[in-house]
This record gives sequence, C-alpha cells and structure tokens, in this order.
Amino acid sequence: MQVTDIKPDIGTWVEASKEVLLSGGHATELRALLEQRGVLVFPELHFTNEELVAFTQTLGTLAPEIRGEITYKITMDEKENARADYLKGAFYWHIDGTMSKMPILASLLSAEALSKEGGDTGFCNTYAAYDHLSEERKAELDGLRVHHSFWNSQLYHQPEPTLAKLEEWMSLGSNELPLVWKHASGRKSLVLGSTAQYVVGMEPQDSAKLLHGLRDWATGEPFHYRHKWSLGDLVIWDNTGTMHRATPYTADSGRMMIRTKLEGEEPFAA
Ligand code: SIN
Repeated sequence: MQVTDIKPDIGTWVEASKEVLLSGGHATELRALLEQRGVLVFPELHFTNEELVAFTQTLGTLAPEIRGEITYKITMDEKENARADYLKGAFYWHIDGTMSKMPILASLLSAEALSKEGGDTGFCNTYAAYDHLSEERKAELDGLRVHHSFWNSQLYHQPEPTLAKLEEWMSLGSNELPLVWKHASGRKSLVLGSTAQYVVGMEPQDSAKLLHGLRDWATGEPFHYRHKWSLGDLVIWDNTGTMHRATPYTADSGRMMIRTKLEGEEPFAA
C-alpha cells in the first residue's frame, strides 16, 4: 500500500489493490490515517457493492441506513431514491448525524456513474481548522453550545417551504451540541454545518456572525479538499473531524454514488 498526502492539512491518496484492501491487513493503519488526514482517496478501485460492504467491515462496524439497507444510493433521481429531495441538503457543508448523541464515524462513497456538470465532493478538516485558531479565539469558543436542527439544513435549499413541509422537517429532530468537540484522543474539532442554527444564549446577529464566520474559516483553502471524481473512485471521510458537501448536480445527470457507513464510536463531548 502506498500513501501520498494531498495537502498539508487534509487528504491522502491511497494506492492499493482490491485484494490487499479486502484482506484487512492494513485496516489499523487506514483507521489511524483517516483520523489524521480526514479524507482518504482510493483512485479507480471499482469495488462491487459486495466488496464495498466487505471492505467497510474490515474498518469497523457497518452502520445500516434508516430503512435497514446495507448500501445506499446517493442520486438526485427519484426513480432510484425516493428520498432524493432530502439529499439536496448535501449541497451545503454539513456533518452527518448532528441530530444524534453519537454521529457515524465515517462514510465510504464509491463512484458508479458521474455527472458531466457538478457532482464534485468538497471536504474540510475541522480538527485542523480548530488547531489553527489563535489561542485567544479558542478561549472565546470554549464552552459555547450550539442548537442544531434538521429543518435549518433544509431551508438552505428550500427557503420557502409550506407549513406542512416545515412541520415534516421539524419532526426529524433537533439537538444541542458543543461548538468545540473534545475527543477522547485529546484532539479538538469544530462542530458546524448547515444544521447549526444558533449559539445558545447569544444575540441572533452575533450568533450568525460567529457560525458563518467559523464555517468560512473552516472551509477555507488550507483545510479544504475538493474531489473531482473518476469512475470507480472510493473516498472515505472521517465524519467526526470533517464537514462535506456535494457541488450541485441535477436529477437527470446520471450521477450515482454507492455509500456505506461506519457506526459511530464516540459521542459529541465538550
Ligand atoms: C453526502 O452528503 O453524503 C453526499 C456527498 C456526495 O454526494 O458527494
């Protein structure tokens, strides 16, 4: 297995055959690399769904989707995924699982069909973004808590929902989380993204400035990697130390990604 850093603060290319990866022999090394680098790219691996599931299981516990599926189709095509409309939320920076106490550890995405326009995936390293803040800024953020809601994330792509739609989104949860996640490892990362609605106890304008300003910082060039997909690429990202988003693509673009997820191992903690 050969590994090459993509940028100093995010991303690593991993060159290895399917057989080597499926053997699980590098699983411990890959898990450590994922935590350190945020995003691992395995170019043109062309895993079948079964291979993707088997590889996922070498890295941890596979997390089933809401309806119990093992793999999930990420596409805007409603014939392929009836919940495609919700996926438009993926066009904005987010962390998966902010409605729960323990978010998923990681997602694995395999490129089955590409879009001619759009459909790249952006990632940013929220550990590095925190680490590079000044000590004064870190002290200001320490102890702040943020209210997250699913409906806030949906307003990004549908800002004028009907009341019925808004209530449907509201039924899908909200949560209060620390702004700075103190991980069991001792490292700290920022918890931001489109579900982050307001900083608890702060004036709305100050809260919006803080959350948007930090997102702007965290997604800035040093901490950001944008993956332009080739067919068969596999990308894994550490959902606990990154945010991600897809660049917009249309329902008829043909883009189809197959996803598996790794069960969370660490609750959000202050
Ligand atoms: C996601 O948010 O998990 C989707 C990313 C993508 O489709 O590129």
